[in-house]
Amino acid sequence: MVYILGIETTCDESGISLIEGKEKKVRILANELRSQIKTHSPFGGVVPILAAREHKKNLPILLKKIEKFFDLRKIDFLAFSVGPGLLPALVQGKEFVLNLAKKLNKKIYPINHLQAHFYSIVIKNKLNKWQKIRNIEFPSLVLVVSGGHTNMYFFENWLKFKKLGETIDDAAGESLDKGARILGLGYPGGPIIEKKAKLAKKSYSLPKPLLEKGLNFSFSGLKTAFLELVNDIKKAKGDLDEEEISALSLSLQKTIFEIILFKIRKAIKIYQPKSIVITGGVSANLSLRRMARKFLKNVKIYFPQKELSTDNGLNIAISGYILYLNKVEPKDFNQIDVFPRERSSHLL
Ligand code: KG4
Ligand code: ZN
Repeated sequence: MVYILGIETTCDESGISLIEGKEKKVRILANELRSQIKTHSPFGGVVPILAAREHKKNLPILLKKIEKFFDLRKIDFLAFSVGPGLLPALVQGKEFVLNLAKKLNKKIYPINHLQAHFYSIVIKNKLNKWQKIRNIEFPSLVLVVSGGHTNMYFFENWLKFKKLGETIDDAAGESLDKGARILGLGYPGGPIIEKKAKLAKKSYSLPKPLLEKGLNFSFSGLKTAFLELVNDIKKAKGDLDEEEISALSLSLQKTIFEIILFKIRKAIKIYQPKSIVITGGVSANLSLRRMARKFLKNVKIYFPQKELSTDNGLNIAISGYILYLNKVEPKDFNQIDVFPRERSSHLL
């Protein structure tokens, strides 16, 4: 029996989760999450220093909830998402985790945030029930599509991977967030755009930069074209009505998803994976899931449970357990550092 406490503070979600693992089975004992959406939404995006302040406030509250029913001295390991993410948020999380590790005299699994999005597909968020860890077919093509990243990887097994592509400018989720801001829809943009897009009766065509070139992504040209389109419509018709907002939401979302799926299909042809994983915040979008199933035929596609697509502590705890099962050694607290920028070498 192994108990792992996972802590997430890379961006604007403060999360702590406690899991119990026994061979290929796990049980979630706690999955506490405090979203900071209310703090950041007036700014139309995450303000790093405010995120850090919120983590400092939230983490002790979340831990107290767990301490009420669980003696923390029974924990075997901590797992902590060390990046990529926002530096002030990561530093705040690190301070909390190192203090706890010292107090409890426990080792830590440093978890790469992107890898945690990949590993999130093995588990369902069901409290107090033993569940089998989902196995997937390797090699697997993994796309992490979130607010900060649009990265494609080829995983030979749970640990061995190479990066095939990434965005050269904005991330897909960031483009949806910026698009929502252009439409005056609030933050985070992805879920609002998804809702509006469902009501659309028409759509506009938008450019797909870099589509034919390699496996990298580019979304900033699309954002500029979207802004120009919105301005043209406003000039012609005045303020945007609901019908236009829905049409524009659908156009942006559909174009981003078509780019993503086109690149995945291209990578499938080259690398012939046995499975596809689409994960990260944007993978919460049900329209993306539907389009993927239609567009990527004859290949097994895995998505995380919708509520585990976005950041949370459970993804970090389960990542710690997967590393444990794969015989990766945890680290002492004085070996832990945070990495705001992505570092491939750091992905284990
Ligand atoms: O993985 P995540 O929680 O944080 C990062 O690691 O960045 O992803 C957040 C991103 C935001 O850009 C948000 O707009 C997007 O995921 N997102 C969605 C949906 N839910 C969250 N995008 C599209 N459709 C959704 N339902
Ligand atoms: Zn994330």
